[in-house]
Amino acid sequence: MATNRTFTMIKPEAVANGHIGAILERINAAGFRIVSMKKTELTSELAGAFYAVHKERPFYGELVSYMSSGPIVAAILEKDNAVSDFRALIGATDPSEAADGTIRKEFAESKAKNAVHGSDSDENAEIEGTFFFSQFERF
Ligand code: RTP
Ligand code: MG
Repeated sequence: MATNRTFTMIKPEAVANGHIGAILERINAAGFRIVSMKKTELTSELAGAFYAVHKERPFYGELVSYMSSGPIVAAILEKDNAVSDFRALIGATDPSEAADGTIRKEFAESKAKNAVHGSDSDENAEIEGTFFFSQFERF
């Protein structure tokens, strides 16, 4: 059953390059409601825990140091079919493969520094939202 929420982060290079506003505008224009949102910064321990599913992958060390390199914006988003519609909005992991009009096509620097995160399943959307927001913030 598709739920109506997903979780996103605007990643460090997109924040550092001043793209928070433009990316949020794209998210709004695509019909997502912002349920919860905060600007924060991950320690390498927290980034490692968040991406623990990738810990055997060759890019894990680079991913953890990148994701803890500066502030990020974390948000829970709501829309019908949120997980798959948001993955479509952000585009492929590698911006050189992302479709025209997607957020990664416009804002990502590289496959590693790819501007935004989007949950890949309803189950992970719930886990990831809970990682960043207390029960009082998820309304
Ligand atoms: P995300 O989880 O951040 O939304 O990205 P994704 O599903 O499109 O890609 P995933 O396979 O889950 O990879 C997580 C993040 O790791 C970095 N990555 N670097 N250098 C590389 O080959 C490589 N591959 C992945 C990216 O930041 C990717 O978003
Ligand atoms: Mg992923």
